[in-house]
Formats: sequence, structure tokens, C-alpha cells
Amino acid sequence: MRNFETLLITGGCGFIGSNFVRYLLKEAGFQGRVINLDKLTYAGNPHNLSDIERDFSNQYRFVIGDICNGETLQKIYDQNRFDGIIHFAAESHVDRSIYGPAEFIQTNIHGTFSLLECARKNWPAGQGLFHHVSTDEVFGSLGDEGYFTESTAYDPHSPYSASKAASDHLVKAYHHTYGLPITLSNCSNNYGPYHFPEKLIPLMILNALAGKRLPVYGDGRNVRDWLYVEDHCRGIWRIMQNGRPGETYNIGGHSEKTNLDVVHTLCDLLEEAAPAGCNLHLKKQGFAAYRDLLLFVKDRPGHDRRYAIDCRKIEDELGWRPTVSFAEGLKRTIRWYLDHPDWVRTVQSGAYRQWLDQHYGQ
Ligand code: NAD
Ligand code: DAU
Repeated sequence: MRNFETLLITGGCGFIGSNFVRYLLKEAGFQGRVINLDKLTYAGNPHNLSDIERDFSNQYRFVIGDICNGETLQKIYDQNRFDGIIHFAAESHVDRSIYGPAEFIQTNIHGTFSLLECARKNWPAGQGLFHHVSTDEVFGSLGDEGYFTESTAYDPHSPYSASKAASDHLVKAYHHTYGLPITLSNCSNNYGPYHFPEKLIPLMILNALAGKRLPVYGDGRNVRDWLYVEDHCRGIWRIMQNGRPGETYNIGGHSEKTNLDVVHTLCDLLEEAAPAGCNLHLKKQGFAAYRDLLLFVKDRPGHDRRYAIDCRKIEDELGWRPTVSFAEGLKRTIRWYLDHPDWVRTVQSGAYRQWLDQHYGQ
């Protein structure tokens, strides 16, 4: 098993990155130091880790900065000499990539390149480990049958997935050409606490509670494979510790659902946790149940039909398995959003952006 003294985490203020840092320090018992480098885009929130900043001040440090900036990276490396990098930072939302792809090219491709260059220049040959967190979307779209395996040919369709595919290729090329020790994971759709409310699950929960319509793209029959975020975090850490350098691992939840199924299940669970009959927003508009809020809207351009992951490799080689069922994960997620109205208000408010500007001078 590999041990690390100092880890550089990029994008640790985002959804999966913040869950990962919390998992690493609170659950996995990591004893080394964690440097979290994040630019704080609209999706990054330093409050996601305020408990960690308070309780692990001797182990955890947040640095605001852009992964595209080679000088910033070199300075952090000189100050910290990390022996592992876990690279989460990215522009992550498919719809945004369709309407404004430039940032995706910049951060996902140029940013990954800068990080790889920093690792190549600073780590003596064969030392360190660079883990790249990627997505199943690089494989394109499936019909009704079949699964993505690690050897499925890349066929990305959106600017987001194309930029992630490019970054995956760069990571593999640095291993092949320069011998940089890397591992890579391609994961399916995550959900859970701290998920920014532009993505399907948190958007539907918060819209429903606010009595807003639930916009389902196209016919709602597109299929995604859902994984509770903490299971993804455990998988990444398992790869960091025991994965074979140069290898790719698929991570998935064995939990394929149509978007309609997801929205219906969410509505039904919300009826139990916060009944629509007691919700004034719905009452005012004459809606009796959360399901009544569902609205079919224009489809996402180039919308991939189905993703499904074969993750036998990580299961067989590293003994990883998803542990949280979809029903249990959704209950926990709904509970988390109900219990954190301040977080929701903050990430939805313009005042949050002002606060970031004041504190971090962006
Ligand atoms: P997110 O959008 O919630 O967070 C991204 C984080 O990266 C934010 O904190 C943001 O401030 C930071 N960031 C963006 N550009 C940066 C830059 N130039 N320099 C430094 N920091 C920057 O994303 P997420 O959903 O947590 O996804 C994390 C990673 O996991 C991404 O690489 C994504 O492609 C991958 N992934 C996500 C999912 C999913 O379902 N969310 C599934 C598979 C893989
Ligand atoms: O598969 C992994 C990917 O999952 C990650 O790489 C991405 O970073 C992550 O954002 C996610 O991409 P998706 O496009 O699958 O996630 P999103 O939550 O945006 O959409 C999930 C499905 O729900 C998709 O089929 C589009 C649909 N959808 C989404 C939204 C936001 C709707 O029908 N209505 C909506 O309002």
C-alpha cells in the first residue's frame, strides 16, 4: 500500500473535491498534509470545508489559485513538496459547456497540462503519483444494451466531455512518454451533499421545495448510472493507495435510472420528508403534489442517451464496491438539503459572489 506525506488536491472546494477532503481526513484517517488549490469559480465554495479548516488546521491548508498558472503551481510545490496529486479541478457542467465552451478548454485541457508539467519537472523519475479524476462521458453514448469498460474507445460528444477526453489523453501520454506515475478514474454521475444546484438532483430537490417547475429534458428517458459521492471518494483513495501506475479504473454505482425515474423517486421521497400538502409555495399555485411540478422542456443539444459502467476491474483488483443504495443515498441527500438552508441561500445568492470578491480579491 502506498503512503503519502503531502497531497495536492485541486478543486477541493467543489462538490466531489470537498467530499473527498472530508472523507480523507475524517473517515480514512489520513495523517499527512492536504493542500487544496482552488480558483473559486461559481462552483467552488470555501465554506464547504469550514469544519475541516477548523478541526484539521495542522493538516489542511487552502490556497486560492488557478491550475492554469504554472508560476502558482511551482510556488506551491516549492513550499510543500507534495508526493501525490489528486486532480478534481474542472469546469464540470455539460449545459454550460454547450453555451460557453472556452472556460472548459482552458481549465480542463490547459489546466491539466500545467499540472502535468509541474509534476514532470519536479518529481524525480518514477516518484510521486498523479491521479486524474475523469468521467464516463468520454466514452460517448450507449444504446439500450452494453456497458463502458476501460477499453471502450473514446467518443466524446459535448465540449465538456471532449475537454475531459483531451485531458485524459494528456495524462496517459505523460505516463507513456515521460514515465510519470499516473492513475486515472472514469466515474458515472455522482450525487450527495454540497452538489451545486445546477445539476439534476439538487436542482430538482430545491425547485420542488420552492414550488418551482421541474424541467425534464426531452422525453426524460435518458439513462444515467448514479453513485453516492462518498463511494466515489473511497474508490479514488483505494486507487491512490493500491492502484497500478499507468492504469485506468471505471467507477460506477450499478444504479441505472432514467431521468424520469430519478425525478419521480425524488418527488415521492420529498412527500415523506416534507409533504407537499404543508408546502405554502405549492399551495399558493394550486399544486397538490411535487410530481405535479414536472415539466417536459426542450432537449439538451446532443444529449447522450445512456451511460452505463462496467466497474469489475476496480471491484476485482482493488476490492472496491458501492455501499450506498440509490434509495438510501437520495434520502440522505434530501435530508442534507433540508438541514442546510443557509448553504443553499449562500450558493444561490449574488451576495456570496460579493463576499468572495471581498475575501479573496477576485
Ligand atoms: P464542481 O464543478 O463542483 O467543482 C469544480 C471545482 O474546481 C470548483 O471548486 C472550482 O472552483 C474548481 N476550479 C475550476 N476551475 C479551476 C481552475 N482553473 N483552477 C483551480 N480550481 C478550479 O465539479 P465536481 O462535480 O466536483 O467534479 C470534480 C471532478 O470530477 C471534475 O474533474 C469532473 O469532471 C469529475 N467528475 C464529476 C462527476 C459528477 O457527477 N459530478 C462524475 C465523474 C467525474
Ligand atoms: O456522467 C458523469 C457526468 O455526470 C460528470 O462528468 C459531469 O460533471 C456531471 O455534471 C454529470 O453530467 P450530466 O450531464 O449527466 O449531469 P446533469 O445533472 O447535468 O444531468 C443529468 C441528466 O438529467 C442528463 O440526462 C440531463 C438531465 N437534466 C439535467 C438538468 C440539469 C434534465 O432533464 N433537466 C435538468 O434541468
